[in-house]
Amino acid sequence: MVRLNVNIDHIATIRQARRAQEPSVITAAVIADLAGADGITVHLRGDRRHIQDRDVRLLREIVKTHLNLEMAPTEEMLRIASEIKPDAVTLVPERPDEITTEGGLDVLSRPGQLGEAVKRLKSAGVLASVFIDPLPGQIQSATDAGAQQVEICTSRYASLTEPGSHAAAGEIDEELLRIKECAALAGGNGLQVAAGHGLTYRNVRRVAEIDYVEELNIGHNIVARAAILGLERAVAEMVAAVAGRSFSQGR
Ligand code: PXP
Repeated sequence: MVRLNVNIDHIATIRQARRAQEPSVITAAVIADLAGADGITVHLRGDRRHIQDRDVRLLREIVKTHLNLEMAPTEEMLRIASEIKPDAVTLVPERPDEITTEGGLDVLSRPGQLGEAVKRLKSAGVLASVFIDPLPGQIQSATDAGAQQVEICTSRYASLTEPGSHAAAGEIDEELLRIKECAALAGGNGLQVAAGHGLTYRNVRRVAEIDYVEELNIGHNIVARAAILGLERAVAEMVAAVAGRSFSQGR
């Protein structure tokens, strides 16, 4: 069975919108765990727009399954990762003005810098993963840089399968084939293979079925669905609170 890491960045996005205490990423991690998630993923961005350093520290204490930290390969982040020691670090590219990670790291054009980052993570006892586009050259460079895992970027597949995308079935199949071939190449090179970005309840299955893909990282669509599915209960509880009736004070 493919493992699911739940990315809880957007729980923190809601919290940071008010610099408030709720919703708690710690509670979110516990709920994800109870619901059957195999791990938790968070992205500590340079601009700290959602996840904060303290969140990563607290998560390290409570997540006993698998904690995957996404981060840019900067000196600051490598220092934090070496100190906190998540189970895995996924190195991602980062631009301050991007809305979300826009694609994989270009390992081909800077193998030296990446090799150094991978070395530091491994010597801290952290599994070194690299987020890359489904291109054979990138897989080979990540292998040469010593990465232990690659996470294949599924964002092109995701946008082709979005409702209303008008992509031809053949175009979607072609993108899936690229992902499959890269997963096989990475697996054949002895790397662990993960995949993620833009996956939804509608499009996840075809990626989960790919040979060698062992792990998926999914965030936005889960948090989006949680907001909608939880809204009715949340409003009913506020109606009860306004009326002075009891409501669950748990979370
Ligand atoms: N994998 C990586 C490397 C990412 O940067 C992200 C977004 O933080 C994800 C997976 C999850 O993407 P989504 O939120 O679209 O499910």
